[in-house]
Amino acid sequence: MFSKSSLLAAVLVAPLVLAVPSPTETAKRSTCTVDSVDSASDISDCSTVEIQGFTVADGDTLTFSFADGASVTMTGDITFASTTASGPLVTLEGTDITFNGGDRTFDGNGADYWDGEGTNGGKAKPHPFMKIKASGLFEEFTVLNTPAQAISVGNDAALTISKVTVNNKAGDTDSLGHNTDGFDVSASNVKIANSVVENQDDCIAINSGSNIIFEDNTCSGGHGMSIGSIASGKTVSGVKFAGNTVTDSMYGVRIKVDQDATSGSVSNVTYSGNTISGISEYGVLITQSYPDNDGTPGTDTTISDVNFDGEPNTITVDSSAYNVVVDCGDCTGTWDWNELTVSGGKSSEISADDATINGGSY
Ligand SMILES: *[C@@H]1O[C@H](CO)[C@@H](O)[C@H](O)[C@H]1NC(C)=O
Repeated sequence: MFSKSSLLAAVLVAPLVLAVPSPTETAKRSTCTVDSVDSASDISDCSTVEIQGFTVADGDTLTFSFADGASVTMTGDITFASTTASGPLVTLEGTDITFNGGDRTFDGNGADYWDGEGTNGGKAKPHPFMKIKASGLFEEFTVLNTPAQAISVGNDAALTISKVTVNNKAGDTDSLGHNTDGFDVSASNVKIANSVVENQDDCIAINSGSNIIFEDNTCSGGHGMSIGSIASGKTVSGVKFAGNTVTDSMYGVRIKVDQDATSGSVSNVTYSGNTISGISEYGVLITQSYPDNDGTPGTDTTISDVNFDGEPNTITVDSSAYNVVVDCGDCTGTWDWNELTVSGGKSSEISADDATINGGSY
């Protein structure tokens, strides 16, 4: 039996014992709320982050450095005032992050900058708008009206981007939007899926990296799905474009290597099950003479193993467009094009150097 005093002691002590947090609980705050640029800078110990709606003022940029393994949700839209800051205007960084945008929007206010010149001149345009320098899963948000390039991807571990919309459609008005690339990828182990890009430049441009999958996306109004341009010393290997739909674009698919690149390579590229239509310039363009489409190619880089196989790839181009142009200075390998059909345009021009291209209708 307990004495009265020991019972009293137990009653007094018990709640104190229960209230002492375990060390792991003290290491991280549980849920943190972000509703300003300042509160965004104070989330390094938050395992769960809720991002509410707010406006980023002129001159400010927004950086989220999430704790390892953080789970992040958005419950409001973030709008950027016209700014003198340079890009990226929003940076997302962290390891093994689960980011669900709840279909909310990052609004870049692009119409305030668009003058038809992109990053080649005119008004200064902060770019990229968004930088994702993280691993994990980023899904379900919209990037609206970016001044120039939209999303730059530079992870250092496996990253999936899913159900993201880049909506720069308003930039079509009077051809004012320019250089509004959807995704610029210089990274490895990346998958971009089930996303939508409406813009005036490359839907995706892969500048370097390996093991990159672009799957079940929809691109319209821009320059199609690109690898490159490849500059000196850059390599791209192991890329799969599968199940994408491209409409009303200048190019369908393109591999562009800088004419003056002194080293670099593109290898092991597969296109499977892509449906492409309304192409005004080239259905397929593979060139080592960039920025020319079809000029005198450089010979110091190598393109190898470019295949259209697996599921059928169907490309329809305008009557004034080229079906396929291959402009190789140094290409190699046996390329399987059995699942490529291109129709509607001018006849093709194939200069494949040492590569052997088998099959296909174009
Ligand atoms: C080619 O790339 C794919 C990814 O698209 C990868 O799974 C495969 O292993 C690569 N093949 C070679 C021979 O590197």
